[in-house]
Amino acid sequence: MMQLKGHVASVQQRQCVQSAAPLLRSCRVQGVSGRSVAKVAKRTAACIERKLSASINAAATAEKQTAAPAQTANGGGGGGTRVMIIGGDGYCGWATALHLSARGYEVCIVDNLCRRQFDLTLGLDTLTPITSIHDRVRTWGEISGRHIDLQIGDICDWEFLSQAVTSFRPDAMVHFGEQRSAPYSMIDRQRAVFTQHNNVIGNINVMFAIKELVPDCHLVKLGTMGEYGTPNIDIEEGFITINHNGRTDTLPYPKQGNSFYHLSKIHDSHNIHFATKAWKLAATDLNQGVVYGVRTEETVAHPALINRYDYDGVFGTALNRFVVQAAVGHPLTVYGKGGQTRGFLDIRDTVRCIQIAIDNPANKGEFRVFNQFTEQFSVNQLADIVTREGKKLGLTVEVTNVPNPRVEAEEHYYNAKCSKLQDLGLEPHLLQDSMIDSLLEFVVQYKDRCKMELIKPAVDWRKAGVKVNTMGAAVAAK
Ligand SMILES: NC(=O)c1ccc[n+]([C@@H]2O[C@H](COP(=O)([O-])OP(=O)(O)OC[C@H]3O[C@@H](n4cnc5c(N)ncnc54)[C@H](O)[C@@H]3O)[C@@H](O)[C@H]2O)c1
Repeated sequence: MMQLKGHVASVQQRQCVQSAAPLLRSCRVQGVSGRSVAKVAKRTAACIERKLSASINAAATAEKQTAAPAQTANGGGGGGTRVMIIGGDGYCGWATALHLSARGYEVCIVDNLCRRQFDLTLGLDTLTPITSIHDRVRTWGEISGRHIDLQIGDICDWEFLSQAVTSFRPDAMVHFGEQRSAPYSMIDRQRAVFTQHNNVIGNINVMFAIKELVPDCHLVKLGTMGEYGTPNIDIEEGFITINHNGRTDTLPYPKQGNSFYHLSKIHDSHNIHFATKAWKLAATDLNQGVVYGVRTEETVAHPALINRYDYDGVFGTALNRFVVQAAVGHPLTVYGKGGQTRGFLDIRDTVRCIQIAIDNPANKGEFRVFNQFTEQFSVNQLADIVTREGKKLGLTVEVTNVPNPRVEAEEHYYNAKCSKLQDLGLEPHLLQDSMIDSLLEFVVQYKDRCKMELIKPAVDWRKAGVKVNTMGAAVAAK
């Protein structure tokens, strides 16, 4: 036991010193004063102290529990940076909370659990058996020795949000906490209004919370590549330089949302851009592509930490849906002609991108935009990849072209830039055959939980009406 403690302590001492080295180096390059360097050294010492005390708990539990993931993997130490993760019970948020906690960031999850409520209302379910957020956080504490703070509440409720922010005092707020399904926002009037209210007002509250309560806090906001639509020119990272009638300006890249959900994200971006100018907020808008995969180093450390996996027609996203369809012998449902092309990324890269954004904060007054994806594929290309890999595993995989429930271009030009996160150190996990194989194998384990009736497209953009749809939206006989 003592030997294990000693080993963990020396490894973590090394990590803290290593993580401080680039800071100290950059101080020297930029000619920063001795006082600032001393501050860094003090932070490093505090970091060592915190990590040593955390490591003693971790070492004690590591002996009797499942091994917690290594703190060094995939870069950097958090050094106690305080990160509030809004939407931390969701697909991206949960994986990110664990990733950061494992690396020495102090994490607070804020979530009103509305995503779980959507499933209950519509009769949907995640493929994977997720545990309650309380059990998740408790289990993580037991196996890692790291505490995650938990605040259950709605960020549209100012009293709740302001109290959560005042008590935790974050250095960074990562905002995942929105209604994130385009089909959900197109079910009916009520869901369209809910989506825009929840997303736009929640985000405005977050901006005010930073301005009033923690003005030095860095806002890391999840946007979507879908904000750009599918223009017939290259998509830049946030801004485009335009020559017009002999004059030149660099302007926000034009946005063209294809659903009330996408439009809510566009409104968020505009609101944040304005707040950076008006109040000197520091903000990073991450235009994320479609996320695939489910396992990260931390979520596989214990069954109670498993992440959600949506495959239904409302919340499931393209590649995750195809993999489940292949696993259960359902034809892959290609919408329309299948030429729709989008940016994609592995969930292991989502968590890393967030860490990179936090470690390299935007300046005060800066509205910084990164396109957060690693590769682009058409729906037909994804179907081909899953078909090929499924066959290798002995699965019978067929493809069917179903009428497109969405209003979108099915054949179009698409070339989006995504270099800024890689310039800051992202090393992408590319969609290789091995990735699909392991995802397929993982999904096959849970295939008995799949409800076949939830697979088909559930929401038709043209049929959104004022009548409230409940189960009908998800399981309507077509
Ligand atoms: N999953 C993807 O492929 C993808 C792609 C691009 C962008 N994004 C963006 O990333 C973010 C996270 O996506 P996800 O897939 O993890 O979604 P998710 O639905 O799994 O998680 C969102 C979480 O936010 C919570 N939440 C929603 N409204 C809230 C509110 N008012 N107050 C407190 N909590 C609230 C929900 O309960 C849920 O746990 C979203 O903003 C989404 O737009 C996701």
